[in-house]
Amino acid sequence: MYAVLKGTHDIILDEADYYSYIEEVLTRVCISHNYREFRTPIIESSDLFLRSVGDSTDIVRKEMYTFLDKGERSITLRPEITAGCVRSMVNAKLFANMDYPVKAYYLGPNFRYERPQKGRYRQFLQFGVECVGSTSPYRDAEVIIMFNNALKMLGFNNLKLKINSLGDEETRINYKKALNEYFGQYIDSMCEDCKERYKTNILRILDCKVEADREIIGKAPKLSDFYSDESKKYFDSVLSLLDKVGVEYEIDNTLVRGLDYYTGVVFEYHYTSKSGQNYGALGGGGHYGKLVKELGGPDLEGVGCAFGIERLASVMKDDNLLEGIEQGLDLYIMPLGEEARESCFILSNFLSLNGYSNDVCLESKNFSQMFKKAERRRAKYAIIVGENEIKNDEVVIKNLATQEQTNVKNSDLIEYLDEEFGEHDHEHEEE
Ligand code: HAM
Repeated sequence: MYAVLKGTHDIILDEADYYSYIEEVLTRVCISHNYREFRTPIIESSDLFLRSVGDSTDIVRKEMYTFLDKGERSITLRPEITAGCVRSMVNAKLFANMDYPVKAYYLGPNFRYERPQKGRYRQFLQFGVECVGSTSPYRDAEVIIMFNNALKMLGFNNLKLKINSLGDEETRINYKKALNEYFGQYIDSMCEDCKERYKTNILRILDCKVEADREIIGKAPKLSDFYSDESKKYFDSVLSLLDKVGVEYEIDNTLVRGLDYYTGVVFEYHYTSKSGQNYGALGGGGHYGKLVKELGGPDLEGVGCAFGIERLASVMKDDNLLEGIEQGLDLYIMPLGEEARESCFILSNFLSLNGYSNDVCLESKNFSQMFKKAERRRAKYAIIVGENEIKNDEVVIKNLATQEQTNVKNSDLIEYLDEEFGEHDHEHEEE
């Protein structure tokens, strides 16, 4: 037996159904906002992440799966997808025809060498979007609103949207100067991470969770006091759009996010399940002003956001938002005897071609064992075929919820099922 590697997990059976459902809802919402799918490689040149995520971030400093390949090139398993997605847009020259913005959605595995705990894995799935090429409060708001809608569709209530603006360059230079002065007085008594951040990325001190440091951080200069007129106006416009469509938010002036490419509005979605599960952020994102240029593209800005599917599935399970999502069969076919087995085998294929999910018992089982199998497969109906049914060219159909059963001629079978199932999706109706 081989155990899965620490921080990784198998997604199988019902769990896989939950993931597919969540991914499908998110995808549907993105498509309805004209986002197109981008699938980019899982391995990228390590430089890509140093350049984009930033060499002072925890992700790049401590968490990347980086190795030399056989050609001595430094390769990294992607820790996030924004960098690869924007790189792909630049490589494909998607900005050449000036038809902005380019809207991408993506889904795939990411790798971070973190300390595994609930909601924190070393391999995890992200679903995200990037909207690139336009600097507009409308686009920032669109991304936020779109995920808000998607989470509502998934059944979330009481989501907490935290939002902040890191301001423009002028704002950040002045603010960092003020923080430098302020934390300079206390840094010797602060935690080791803060000491490191003081040197490499002072804004990240605001993210520190150490209780004693929180007190010092609470009295630090406020970012909002440093906004330039321009960045204040931009932030207010985003907030006003959220107000207009009724998206609730909480301004959190200490929210800075852990990736270096953010420049303006940043946000995170938080949620606590009924049993108190809270993994930090379910999803997060923000505006990036220089990333496209940094990766060799034109001087265009973008905004994006990504959600962790594991975290979504886990809190949704906790709050019973995934009940009934598990895959079930339309029909379970039960042959009685050897001769019936062959007819049922052929019938199963015919029903699949007509769009009905089904399975047939091809093992020697008695009646009650076959009903148990039907139940485990969450079948809605059983089809029973014995000697008599073969002779009369018919089947017995039993509704497993009501226990009612009827004999139906083979020639009327599809018509009968269509009626019972109502609007059924028939892939092969014309055949
Ligand atoms: P992030 O905040 O690093 O942002 O990750 C986004 C989401 O991925 C988190 O909110 C969380 O749900 C999930 N996540 C992150 N790390 C783990 C982990 N170790 N285990 C399970 N889930 C995890 C980004 O990655 C940015 N690329 C988002 C973005 C897109 N910004 C602009 N565009």
